[in-house]
Amino acid sequence: MDQVQIDRVRASHALLAPQAQAMGSAFYRFLFELNPELRRLFVGDIEAQARKLMDMLASVVEHLDQPEQLLDRARALGERHAGYGVQESHYDDVGTALLHTLHAGLGAHYSDEVEEAWASVYGALAEAMMAAGRSVEA
Ligand code: HEM
Repeated sequence: MDQVQIDRVRASHALLAPQAQAMGSAFYRFLFELNPELRRLFVGDIEAQARKLMDMLASVVEHLDQPEQLLDRARALGERHAGYGVQESHYDDVGTALLHTLHAGLGAHYSDEVEEAWASVYGALAEAMMAAGRSVEA
């Protein structure tokens, strides 16, 4: 991902930061509408989970220029996710729900370029998480 994309992700994330909790809740609403079967994987409080996800995203956005560190964390996260019963097909649903949440939150600030930049961040994280999940299950 190049600097222009990093800047796009950071600028759009900054616009959403003041409403992070609402974004987190909206994300899980979209996710469970898209695939109701995923609901049962989440055993803890969903508002607390929304907070964890938003905190993790904020940290990812902050460290976009340190990809090696990010990928290390994604691998550890992917190993834990295999333990939560997450399957590879679920990563598409989460990616779709994430872009949908960004679109809803950003409104007129959303664009093809913003979508592409976020899809690239999510894709890299998801790839590293899935690869780590596979090695745990092997
Ligand atoms: C880039 C992708 C993702 C990120 C950044 C992310 C982030 C997180 C974080 C920070 C946690 C808190 C626990 C921990 O750190 O281990 C968590 C838990 C969890 N995530 Fe994810 N996640 C991602 C993808 C997914 C996907 C694809 C699924 C599939 C439905 C999923 C389902 C879960 C579940 C079931 C839990 C445990 C919830 C509970 O204990 O109630 N995550 N995730």
